[in-house]
Amino acid sequence: MTSTTAAAVRALALMWRAAPGWSAGFAVLSLVAGVVVPVNAWLLARVLDAVTTRGDGVAAMLLLGAVTAGGAVVGPATRYAEGELARRVGLRAKSTLMRAVTGVTGLELLERPAFLDRLRLAEQAGAGAPQVLAHALFAAVQAIVTAAGLALVLAAVGPWLVLVTAAGCVPAVVAAVAESRDRARMMWQTTPGTRREMFYATLLTDARAATEIRVFGLGGLLNDRMTAELRQLARAQRAVDRRTAVVQAGLAVSGAGLSAAAMLWGAGQAAAGRITVGELSMLVVGVAGLQVAAAGVVRAFGDGHHGALIFAHLDAVLASTAAESVRSLRRSLPAASRSAGVELRDVTFRYAAGHAPVLRGVSFAIPPGAMVALVGTNGAGKSTVVKLLCRLYEATSGTILWNGDDIVGLDARAVRRRIGVLFQDFVRYDLPVADNIGFGDLDRLDDEPAIRRAARLAGVDAVAERLPQGYGTMLSRAFGGTDDADGVQLSGGQWQRVALARSLMRTEAELMILDEPSSGLDADAEAALYQHLRTARGGRSCLLVTHRLGAVRHADAIVVLAGGRVAEQGTHDQLLAAGGEYARLYQMQAGGYGRRADVAAG
Ligand SMILES: Nc1ncnc2c1ncn2[C@@H]1O[C@H](COP(=O)(O)OP(=O)(O)OP(=O)(O)O)[C@@H](O)[C@H]1O
Ligand SMILES: [Mg+2]
Repeated sequence: MTSTTAAAVRALALMWRAAPGWSAGFAVLSLVAGVVVPVNAWLLARVLDAVTTRGDGVAAMLLLGAVTAGGAVVGPATRYAEGELARRVGLRAKSTLMRAVTGVTGLELLERPAFLDRLRLAEQAGAGAPQVLAHALFAAVQAIVTAAGLALVLAAVGPWLVLVTAAGCVPAVVAAVAESRDRARMMWQTTPGTRREMFYATLLTDARAATEIRVFGLGGLLNDRMTAELRQLARAQRAVDRRTAVVQAGLAVSGAGLSAAAMLWGAGQAAAGRITVGELSMLVVGVAGLQVAAAGVVRAFGDGHHGALIFAHLDAVLASTAAESVRSLRRSLPAASRSAGVELRDVTFRYAAGHAPVLRGVSFAIPPGAMVALVGTNGAGKSTVVKLLCRLYEATSGTILWNGDDIVGLDARAVRRRIGVLFQDFVRYDLPVADNIGFGDLDRLDDEPAIRRAARLAGVDAVAERLPQGYGTMLSRAFGGTDDADGVQLSGGQWQRVALARSLMRTEAELMILDEPSSGLDADAEAALYQHLRTARGGRSCLLVTHRLGAVRHADAIVVLAGGRVAEQGTHDQLLAAGGEYARLYQMQAGGYGRRADVAAG
């Protein structure tokens, strides 16, 4: 079985699983619709012959009326069934796809352009592919049934007519397959450009980007770049459309010649009295109908082929996500303790093969219950350490130990459930305050006291209570509702407090990780945060990443990263005494940034 056929089979299987009843109904209706045309042609000939020979054609006429009426009802019913099938299959395919993507343990896959291209195709067209295939399959069956029926009708006039008409369709099938390949290749090749175009279009209409776009006057430039991508896409589509049009025109002309010849022959035969008027009508309806049916088979074949090629992308996304997820299906964790002891041993990491390593032989420990600060200049690799601890990437070499166990051997989801984390680039959800905080611990999404407690610790309780609907207030102007005043937008620091509250939801977390928690906080909020970390941490281990060196003085240990290596580590006093990188940075901050020269000189 070729990979395209295999994809087609899987697409149809997905459709069957999503809606067995509607699939069967659609199939039956398509078959019925296929029978209507030849039966009509045959009945029409009976009626005409009865008229010309003055015989009794009443029964045939009544039957013709009934079949025509029945055929008219089958059309809309088939379309309704197909629409319903499309909705059910689309829903199933999209949710399967999203489940697969969110099931991926790490971020590597989501940063690979080839994967993103496939994902976009899968999302855009792949979800509709099973239905396209089903439509093609049943249209083909319907057309084949029609064609077979008409072939029988036509064979009664002259068997060679059937052979000639059928032979005339072979080039069309070849052309249809070539076209669908051509089109699928074009879609694949233009996907990177399409993603770019979507990026520009989204950016141009995004409220968050609107400020910079207006103030820096980027609108025209971004619009030009977007249209350039669109033009390139249009060029590629035009080239395929042109090739298709030329081939189709050639095929249409040869088809028309064929039917004209058959009709001339039939007219001659009828004039000579060798066939009846009814038979002539069968010939006219038969040749034309057979050509239409054959064109239907060809189109269905092309569409089906295209659907299978597109579904293959969805299939590939599902396969790569499944392959990736395997690494996380490991041992579950030992029973939870109050606080975790974590250790990095000689950890080296690069984001992708070919990239320079971002971490080089990093070793340090977070003993159970300790607060360890990770400091260093921009790009030193601090957030990368955070992501490795959360199992968003896997270390290229070296080991990370969680309570003595190699983290690679543990179930990533279980490890994550024991971590409370605030990322440097946290997410602002266009959702109510309660969701924005409650998302930190899904088990307590509806636990209002827990949400209020986290908000209080993060210093955002007063803000939340002052909002129009309190914790139910939508933190989004875009999704605020019909009344413009319903949604609110928070300030940068307020958002950071909300994100901090979210990370504090997991009260049983064995390890807290805070990456730049106070970068946007005012002095009061910052003091309250560090006070909480010192006194109310409840013995939990904590990794604190910050540039505010004044805040790390009380840490049990300070690890200084520089260029992906541990430059030095120790307590505040030890590091100051050592007079290294930490001492330099600390004195610069303590002395005020403007007096660096004084400090250096002093
Ligand atoms: N997803 C990624 N893909 C490739 N490279 C990355 C990725 N994320 C970060 N990097 C690179 O890794 C290096 C370390 O980044 P990291 O975010 O860990 O620095 P940091 O110490 O947290 O800096 P900052 O103080 O600015 O937050 C940087 O050179 C950055 O370019
Ligand atoms: Mg960082």
